Amino acid sequence: MFKEKEGLFPGIHKFAPRKKVGMLLLCAVSLAVFLWVVFVDKGEAQESNPPIGNRLFQEAGQKDNSTTIESVERTNAGQSASTVKPPPPVYFKGYTLPRGNPCESFTLPPPPADKKRTGPRPCPVCYLPVEQAIALMPDAPSFSPGVSNLAYIHEENSEKPEFGGYPSLMQRNDSYDVRESMSVHCGFVKGIRPGHQTGFDIDDSDLHEMESCRGVVVASAIFGAFDLIRQPKNISEYAKKNVCFHMFVDEQTEVFLRNSSELDGSMRIGLWRIVTVHNLPYDDPRRNGKVPKLLLHRLFPNARYSLWIDAKLELVVDPYQILERFLWRKNVSFAISKHYRRFDVFVEAEANKAAAKFDNASIDFQIEFYKKEGLTPYSAAKLPITSDVPEGCVVVREHIPVSNLFACLWFNEVDRFTPRDQISFAIVRDKIMSKTNWTLNMFLDCERRNFVVQGYHRDILEHWSSPPPPGATEIVHPPPPVPDETPQTSSNITTSSSVNEPLKKVPSKRGRDRKKRHRKVIGNFA
Ligand SMILES: *[C@@H]1O[C@H](CO)[C@@H](O)[C@H](O)[C@H]1NC(C)=O
Ligand SMILES: *[C@@H]1O[C@H](CO)[C@@H](O)[C@H](O)[C@H]1NC(C)=O
Ligand SMILES: *[C@@H]1O[C@H](CO)[C@@H](O)[C@H](O)[C@H]1NC(C)=O
Ligand SMILES: *[C@@H]1O[C@H](CO)[C@@H](O)[C@H](O)[C@H]1NC(C)=O
Ligand SMILES: *[C@@H]1O[C@H](CO)[C@@H](O)[C@H](O)[C@H]1NC(C)=O
Ligand SMILES: *[C@@H]1O[C@H](CO)[C@@H](O)[C@H](O)[C@H]1NC(C)=O
Ligand SMILES: *[C@@H]1O[C@H](CO)[C@@H](O)[C@H](O)[C@H]1NC(C)=O
Ligand SMILES: *[C@@H]1O[C@H](CO)[C@@H](O)[C@H](O)[C@H]1NC(C)=O
Repeated sequence: MFKEKEGLFPGIHKFAPRKKVGMLLLCAVSLAVFLWVVFVDKGEAQESNPPIGNRLFQEAGQKDNSTTIESVERTNAGQSASTVKPPPPVYFKGYTLPRGNPCESFTLPPPPADKKRTGPRPCPVCYLPVEQAIALMPDAPSFSPGVSNLAYIHEENSEKPEFGGYPSLMQRNDSYDVRESMSVHCGFVKGIRPGHQTGFDIDDSDLHEMESCRGVVVASAIFGAFDLIRQPKNISEYAKKNVCFHMFVDEQTEVFLRNSSELDGSMRIGLWRIVTVHNLPYDDPRRNGKVPKLLLHRLFPNARYSLWIDAKLELVVDPYQILERFLWRKNVSFAISKHYRRFDVFVEAEANKAAAKFDNASIDFQIEFYKKEGLTPYSAAKLPITSDVPEGCVVVREHIPVSNLFACLWFNEVDRFTPRDQISFAIVRDKIMSKTNWTLNMFLDCERRNFVVQGYHRDILEHWSSPPPPGATEIVHPPPPVPDETPQTSSNITTSSSVNEPLKKVPSKRGRDRKKRHRKVIGNFA
């Protein structure tokens, strides 16, 4: 098939000037047939894939077939077809900083001696200057061990209206059998295109914009008008021009933003492009939040890198510097911070129960399920893995098949069990790592706090004597004393009166209590 094509394209160049229309027509028809075969044959994979030519960095990244597609593109672009030979796939091979670079010899200073200050805190991180970081952006994707062709299941005619598709236990088991070519559930099962009649629906104009984002995405979301928009700081002009900053909001939040006159017809607030999401798939806003957090590779099918940040956080370092430091320099396709003190899933689960993060029975069920599958408490035997508990408010990743697979399977656990994703992280990671030599980077919580600054949720701000100014970013400094996402708990520490805590509780009775104080905040809990 391909051979034949190679012959045809010179034909176009040769005959077209002579107006051999018949020949040209023949070429066109053959080309159409060729494309049809290439795309239709790929079936399901096709449905969720980005347009031709952008797939080089996508799921098909390691496939011979993708080179074929690239060749077709090139030929179409008018280059001489006779020079086209399918080149071997090119991968990013990593780099080491030159000797003498300040970041090469950088070592973390010891933690503060003062015991009282060993809690959550930022620590120094050695970034390269932003121009250098930009220059180091790989021009090829990283190799994706284990899986090179990842397709997403959709069930258009399914009776089940669920967003996640409720994979059966058999399908779940199968999805962990990592192999070169696989199809998995990954949200959006109802439609052929994420965000288009799938639940988590997005206007076509926004979808188009998202599809045209080919480089780096920075994304966040506010559902239920819980948070204020925080503007990224210290962003280079290059990043302002080239990075897609997208803030997903629900209709309720959009109304709130419009009323507070932050939002006008441009749908931009500072660097953020505001994307309104309709038909949120879940009743629980925490579950809805996991859709953009874990499925950015589906929402931005052509993006190469993404940085997710929870809306309570303000980004204060350029995204290219973050990607360089945590992905490229580390030669990994996925980076996430560790929880600042807990590293064991069983301990984490108990802490979640004690802090009423979710109902005890559901957490117990999930933990029991994982125990039967072989999840063990963290021990030094897991080294070089240093933690089973992520602090997932920031996720840094490259969109390649294996990291996309990890994100899909993590999402499926959150969909099946509790939305506490720090409970399901390790089992998904370990299952994938048992089948491939893929690794991810778990960096220090204090390093994360170097590039994102924690603010308060909106209704905390409204408790204060003076209301927050519209921009609200000014008053998020300095961070509150110890408002860590999950309050400290161990047998002898009483649950801290974390300022975040009331927001995280869902029981509807509490919801009603809060209704009196924050009318608008409550919608999703009712
Ligand atoms: C390329 O696609 C064809 C179908 O179009 C398929 O039969 C073949 O196995 C694919 N090759 C690879 C290497 O995946
Ligand atoms: C980066 O990882 C790839 C495999 O994915 C490996 O071939 C390469 O040698 C690594 N580079 C460095 C600098 O470690
Ligand atoms: C990882 O596995 C791939 C095959 O899946 C192999 O080609 C590669 O050399 C391995 N890399 C390392 C660092 O072991
Ligand atoms: C789960 O999948 C593995 C292959 O990864 C297979 O060997 C095993 O039998 C499956 N278990 C069940 C219960 O289906
Ligand atoms: C809009 O904001 C004003 C205060 O700025 C408030 O009184 C009013 O209720 C708000 N309207 C809506 C629809 O939220
Ligand atoms: C910008 O970065 C510099 C150092 O890189 C830092 O001192 C400063 O606080 C940052 N600005 C903001 C608003 O965080
Ligand atoms: C849930 O479990 C925690 C710790 O195991 C306990 O402190 C708490 O009282 C339990 N909550 C309920 C509602 O039973
Ligand atoms: C908790 O108790 C253990 C022993 O029971 C003790 O070593 C530790 O210092 C205590 N921690 C705090 C914060 O009180």
